[in-house]
Amino acid sequence: MDMTLIDEVQSRRTFAIISHPDAGKTTLTEQLLLFGGAIRAAGTVKGKKTGKYATSDWMEIEKQRGISVTSSVMQFDYLGKRINILDTPGHQDFSEDTYRTLMAVDSAVMIIDAAKGIEAQTLKLFKVCKMRGIPIFTFVNKLDRQGREPLEIMEELEEVLGIESYAMNWPIGMGKEFLGIYDRHHNRIEQFRVEEDQRFLPLNEDGELDGDYEIKKTSLYDQALEDVMLLNEAGNEFTTDRLKKGEVTPVFFGSALTNFGVQTFLETYLQFAPSPQPRQTDQGEVAATEEDFSGFIFKIQANMNPAHRDRIAFLRICSGQFERGMPVQLSRTGKTIKLSSSTSFLADDRNTVDNAVSGDIIGIHDTGNYQIGDTLTGGKKNFAFEKLPQFTPELFMRVTAKNVMKQKHFHKGINQLVQEGAIQLYKTYRTDEIILGAVGQLQFEVFEHRMKNEYNTDVMMENIGSKIARWIENEEDVKDAMSSQRSMLVKDRYGKLVFLFENDFAMRWFSDKHPEIRLYSLL
Ligand code: G4P
Repeated sequence: MDMTLIDEVQSRRTFAIISHPDAGKTTLTEQLLLFGGAIRAAGTVKGKKTGKYATSDWMEIEKQRGISVTSSVMQFDYLGKRINILDTPGHQDFSEDTYRTLMAVDSAVMIIDAAKGIEAQTLKLFKVCKMRGIPIFTFVNKLDRQGREPLEIMEELEEVLGIESYAMNWPIGMGKEFLGIYDRHHNRIEQFRVEEDQRFLPLNEDGELDGDYEIKKTSLYDQALEDVMLLNEAGNEFTTDRLKKGEVTPVFFGSALTNFGVQTFLETYLQFAPSPQPRQTDQGEVAATEEDFSGFIFKIQANMNPAHRDRIAFLRICSGQFERGMPVQLSRTGKTIKLSSSTSFLADDRNTVDNAVSGDIIGIHDTGNYQIGDTLTGGKKNFAFEKLPQFTPELFMRVTAKNVMKQKHFHKGINQLVQEGAIQLYKTYRTDEIILGAVGQLQFEVFEHRMKNEYNTDVMMENIGSKIARWIENEEDVKDAMSSQRSMLVKDRYGKLVFLFENDFAMRWFSDKHPEIRLYSLL
């Protein structure tokens, strides 16, 4: 085996940050990038109010709304490791995109606002991570503000998320009285708002401070000692194995805005987070260190940079090494493609990569060859990675081009946006009218905006409301007459039949009337 490849792969750490909007994902990402030297000044990634925008906020609509719509990828080196952070949109309307991105990582970092605890979106995303069985690290943010009691937060993690929590460090005070953290892992105290040369105070074997330090005189220090003692005695057990299995989450307290606890978090994370893991294919497992190249596309995005007007497929490398110009096989079609144009992701300054290994994400130029979920292989064996989950949309719109002369642009735009996974495409059963499905309303707004700006097409959208979509096991038994206003028969983009039911009642009524039709839903 190629030892350099093994070393390279083992140095990779690929993760996504999951959180509810406003918990501090952008702020934390920015601090991490600063450590890695990927950006030079705070405010490059973030700055809603200053008029600057996140490095990861590529698209115009994101700027207008100050939300992050699409996932992007950021890469940097730190302490001999190469870190890939996959950004995810916090807004729940883009959860499909986020779920797919979570398929491409080896671990996740969950940020929790100390004052708010676990919020709806965090819970949803956590469940997807749990389903995949990936390790989850927790960063409890905004300790510089008054928040909930840390023990209460730990309990909430266990009760709401059903995962054991292990405090890697413990806050000493909070808000105006925030003095620092008791770092159990490094057996030291890290003081808040203290110069670096005096910030870290070593603890003795009993986990206490020996010297004559100011902090020792505070009741908050005593309280922290007491809490830590309790954790030592009655807390959960932490092992790398339990972390890997998703049984326990290491919890870090800090404040991203003041860059406190972030470095300690990053260094501990790098120590425990897994390097690229083996992946399942339809022909067994593929190890990350296998020499033959393979990977899958988890995202396609058009026109990320208006100056380029191109389309980029995001590929997670799962084994081997990418080399520019290498021929690969697209497993879905058996076609051989030369990967000549590729991009690595260092913010919006898109460098060209010459090589990348398992764990890395590369952007490959796409002229319409790829679909989300596609596998690319470089060796002789042709196989496909596990399918990416498809989601059952809940909202539907009938869409037409305002100007009939613009049909060509209209269809091109729809096809590309559908291939990107920005929206789902359906057609009425006999008449082929276009119906778009979405998980969240904002997806339609992004669609409309992008059709106008990128494909120069105004669209007319007729809201047909929320529906319950159900696929059909025995399509051969479906008859035209079963389609009605309340149970509309459509086809999905693969030609599979789907009923869109007006509501639960309509669905039950249908099933009573046509018990022979076997319905099922996607995720
Ligand atoms: P998001 O990407 O998860 O949506 O969160 P983001 O980082 O944008 O942070 C949301 C808000 O929380 C921002 O304030 C940010 O400054 C603040 N914040 C993040 N981390 C901390 C922290 O550790 N302590 C405190 N006190 N605040 C924090 P904003 O006023 O909404 O935005 P901005 O205009 O200040 O950028």
